[in-house]
Amino acid sequence: MKQLSPLGAGPLSTVVVFALLALTRLPAAESKAPIPRSVSFDAAWKFFKGDADQVEKAGYPDQDWRQLDLPHDWSIEGPFSPENKTGGAGGFLPAGIGWYRKTFSLPESYAKHRVFIDLDGVMANSDVWINGTFLGHRPYGYVSFRYELTPHLLFGEKENVVAVRVDNSAQPASRWYSGAGIYRHVRLVVTDPVHLEHWGTFVTTPEVSAKKARIVVQNMVVNQSTQTRKVALQVSVLDPKGEKVSSATSETKQIPAGKSAQFKSELSAAPPHLWNPDDPALYKVVSQVVEAGRTLDEDETEVGLREYHFDPDTGFWINGKNIKLKGVCLHHDAGGFGAAVPLSAWERRLTQLKEVGCNAIRTSHNPYAPEFLDLCDRMGFLVMDEILDCWKVGKNPYDYHLYFEEWAGRDTRDTVIRDRNHPSVIIYSAGNEIHDTRKPDAAKQILGSLIQVFHETDPTRPVTQALFRPNVTHDYENGLADMLDVVGQNYREKEILAAHETKLQRKIIGTENRHELAAWLPFRDSPAYAGQFLWTGFDYLGEARTWPAISRDTGLFDRTGSPHEIAYQRKSWWGAEPMVHLTRRTGADALTPTDPGYEPYQKRVQLLFGDWSPQNPDPHEETVEVYSNCESVELSLNGQSLEAKDRPADDSPRVWIVPYAPGTLKAVGSNGGKVVATDVLETSGTAARINLSCDRKTLTDDWDEVAYVRVTIQDENGVLVPTAENEVRFELSGPGVIAAVDSGDNESHESFQAHERKAFQGRCLAIVRATSPGTLKLTASSAGLSSSSVTIEASAPGRDRHP
Ligand code: GAL
Repeated sequence: MKQLSPLGAGPLSTVVVFALLALTRLPAAESKAPIPRSVSFDAAWKFFKGDADQVEKAGYPDQDWRQLDLPHDWSIEGPFSPENKTGGAGGFLPAGIGWYRKTFSLPESYAKHRVFIDLDGVMANSDVWINGTFLGHRPYGYVSFRYELTPHLLFGEKENVVAVRVDNSAQPASRWYSGAGIYRHVRLVVTDPVHLEHWGTFVTTPEVSAKKARIVVQNMVVNQSTQTRKVALQVSVLDPKGEKVSSATSETKQIPAGKSAQFKSELSAAPPHLWNPDDPALYKVVSQVVEAGRTLDEDETEVGLREYHFDPDTGFWINGKNIKLKGVCLHHDAGGFGAAVPLSAWERRLTQLKEVGCNAIRTSHNPYAPEFLDLCDRMGFLVMDEILDCWKVGKNPYDYHLYFEEWAGRDTRDTVIRDRNHPSVIIYSAGNEIHDTRKPDAAKQILGSLIQVFHETDPTRPVTQALFRPNVTHDYENGLADMLDVVGQNYREKEILAAHETKLQRKIIGTENRHELAAWLPFRDSPAYAGQFLWTGFDYLGEARTWPAISRDTGLFDRTGSPHEIAYQRKSWWGAEPMVHLTRRTGADALTPTDPGYEPYQKRVQLLFGDWSPQNPDPHEETVEVYSNCESVELSLNGQSLEAKDRPADDSPRVWIVPYAPGTLKAVGSNGGKVVATDVLETSGTAARINLSCDRKTLTDDWDEVAYVRVTIQDENGVLVPTAENEVRFELSGPGVIAAVDSGDNESHESFQAHERKAFQGRCLAIVRATSPGTLKLTASSAGLSSSSVTIEASAPGRDRHP
């Protein structure tokens, strides 16, 4: 939910405010501008890695601490060490305790308002104080939460201090890299004493057809003033072009001091512009709390109008169309950023996923940043919103099982209230591979109470669970699976299909699946199987198990966004556009498709190479695999045809055994005799130059906007040199920073916060952020190679994109 609007004109907002709340130690000047309802509170925090007494006290001397802007993940700053207690699970990155403090002033006029701090995610076990007064504790690092500051604030010239202690020192606490610190955005929210509650607007669309959508808006209003107040709700709906298409004014209600009241308004759009993955049209619901003609508070909620359901025989339907969920699982880190991920990094990643035909995301195995879901709304992704990786039975000594009893209900409710307006969210998952199911009676009790929370908080969405070896724990016989609205199972596709065959009314979905053909065919061929979520879309930090590996390379794409070869195979299955892609295979897959994650660690041996530069230059045979959805593919080497092959009915790759000779390998795909796609590989010479490509020409100075500058080391003809490991040095001039560097190398322990990086398989990258308007120039150089530069124009403003 966005809360963008300033407080309306009226007695409380006539004397108002200096808007730059986010800056520290500024005298609180008065101005006539309206008070912004929500401002970024990310800038100018003080940070100290370690613990000390009295840090929460307002007067604590923090002048020597490091100053930084949020979001901030200090774990990603390293260093990597096999001694770090997070172990391979945490990517061998450090854990511990850290403190953040922010000093700020507020004008006197704020004294008449209610002031809140919203934290989107703090990893982990956060404690928050204002001016020395304790506000609260949240153990789960993935939930968003709010505290009210009002009674403890000082106004005018006086300074206030928010202090936040984060503690993830007890390790291992996670099976993957979690990060550490205030790694998501923070906002200051200022309202009238009579205001919409936090996450207090709930929009549902009980009837949606091509002709008409009924839109029901429920608003919870709280009266924090000292008198009974008489208010009504004015609600309007704006279509994707911004035109008002419907409005309603509720009855007036009296709300006694200290109480809340629920309002309900009926609106419509006729005909509606429906939301669907190919055309994610967004409407806006504007809710205003009005008293005697004066607007006291207002929020905006983006919504999508769509009807969807799961069907036991035919899977997933949206707006009358039967589609499959072509999904991937993600973890919340993005390589060198760690857990503090700029939104444009996600935008880039989701764009790449779209390009291979993906339409769905599983937020494995925890709630994501709220703006991630906004992005999915805008880009048309369907989201499985997962809450937990364990219940009462832990998978690590210090994971969520320690908090489940006390916090699971609250964390689930808070997440659902936060997320329930997103059109992208189509299903909740109560947990991943939950080990409690070994004791079915206890597990069913827990699942029952979680499902109750989901359904009471959001009656419109189904709930699933990523079942873990259900045939071992008899989930299909003991009733547990049938408590779920949609039965989800990780891997073992034959088992879930058999479970459906046994009980045809079961709706089924693959919650986690491997990339291989054996997992693809049941998806392709079983109409009941609503979808699959591949493990994973991108390589992720942690779950590495054995030093020197620091990340898990199960992605379609690596940490930097370079596609692994299997991404092309996936595109040939998922994608609609004709495509062809050449790959060299150097051996047979060694892993058996049983239960990934529960096998002993096996060092991954790379078997697929997207080059025609094998290490052995002597005459030998190469296995060439071609991924293509074309009817026919013809292969040729140095202009000599090596015959054409038709598309196999089982979607397996087309394979040629090719006597190696350096030169040009070419695959040409045709449909109906017409050439529709080609791919070419050329043998490389020695490394001669650096080639740079940048994904954007402009940036704003918003923290959430970054530019990816990719290095490829090429020979003098511009062919990538896949063996190149040159150290590349980056120099940035102009108003910006190199936010991270990376190469995707799973075994590199170089720092991500550096200005140099060794190339891995001929590639590396630098990610650049602007800090103010101006021209940024990034130069990449390396001994013995000709260097290269790119320029990016940075403009203002970007600052308050995420209030
Ligand atoms: C799954 C698990 C994932 C991840 C994966 C590794 O069983 O749900 O979180 O651990 O294995 O292959």
